[in-house]
Amino acid sequence: MISCQPFTFPGTSFTVNRMGYGAMQLAGPGVWGPPKDRDAAIAVLREAVAAGVNHIDTSDFYGPHVTNQIIREALSPFPAGLVIVTKLGGRRPPDRSWQPASSPAELTAAVHDNLRNLGLEALDIANYRFMGRDHGLEEGSIAEQVSVLADLKRQGLIRHIGVSNVTATQVAEAQTITDVVCVQNNYNLAHRGDDALIDDLARQGIAYVPFFPLGGFSPLQSSTLSAVAERLGATPLQVALAWLLHRSPNILLIPGTSSVAHLRENLAAAELTLTPDVLAQLDGIAAAAAG
Ligand SMILES: NC(=O)c1ccc[n+]([C@@H]2O[C@H](COP(=O)([O-])OP(=O)(O)OC[C@H]3O[C@@H](n4cnc5c(N)ncnc54)[C@H](OP(=O)(O)O)[C@@H]3O)[C@@H](O)[C@H]2O)c1
Repeated sequence: MISCQPFTFPGTSFTVNRMGYGAMQLAGPGVWGPPKDRDAAIAVLREAVAAGVNHIDTSDFYGPHVTNQIIREALSPFPAGLVIVTKLGGRRPPDRSWQPASSPAELTAAVHDNLRNLGLEALDIANYRFMGRDHGLEEGSIAEQVSVLADLKRQGLIRHIGVSNVTATQVAEAQTITDVVCVQNNYNLAHRGDDALIDDLARQGIAYVPFFPLGGFSPLQSSTLSAVAERLGATPLQVALAWLLHRSPNILLIPGTSSVAHLRENLAAAELTLTPDVLAQLDGIAAAAAG
């Protein structure tokens, strides 16, 4: 079983293990279509839950629809205490690109798509995923979209709301409309633009869920990371995950993998203890990446 501290999303009854699982890698290549090996995808999910993972991140635009359908097939009826977090705000046209889908009608349809494909009556947590410029961060109001989600929450279709790919200003704007229980942004050992936001959310007890915790489609590589990993008898990616767990108590991990062997490695990262001198060395990686 995973050995790391639990975390309770603020104002909710949802307490999760800080080591969770991100399901995006379960779709086919390019997050499109079915996986090459559906049984392997099901095995990853079942092994994760059996090991104590009770926080799974997904979206109906992974596949599209495929990932949610696999989660349902693998895990339904869902065990008590499992928190499934999904994202709204995007769509995948036939050219396989990632496009915004953030009108009130599109967001409402996406909630119903997620409910149908997951086989749920209400979504545990729904993140509004702002697409931004080139899918990255961009300032601009998200009030209309968050208000739509707040309305769907009042209707009982969403239990709690989060935001994703957002700036501190956008988080604050969302909080004027509804309670925000989590923020999901791009962050890892080498990509630390959200350091101040993480600390601010920690003070508020709000979860910060880094996407691309291992570097995403091009997993992290660094000579410092490799040297530290060798010294600790771990893999570089395990050290990268352990560093995130040490970085702040409100960080929840959702590393993605399509492989049971990688899943086991990732879950075992929760066992690693990093000393202050190791943390200082690892902190240097972001500075080197920025310079
Ligand atoms: N909000 C957003 O906009 C957003 C964007 C992207 C992702 N997400 C969420 O965040 C989750 C995590 O992000 P991610 O999956 O894109 O990136 P990630 O977790 O940083 O890295 C996944 C990549 O690392 C590989 N990997 C995983 N464990 C490994 C191991 N132990 N050894 C070697 N390689 C390993 C995976 O390949 P294998 O399959 O071969 O293991 C995959 O290529 C996603 O699953 C998704 O739920 C959210």
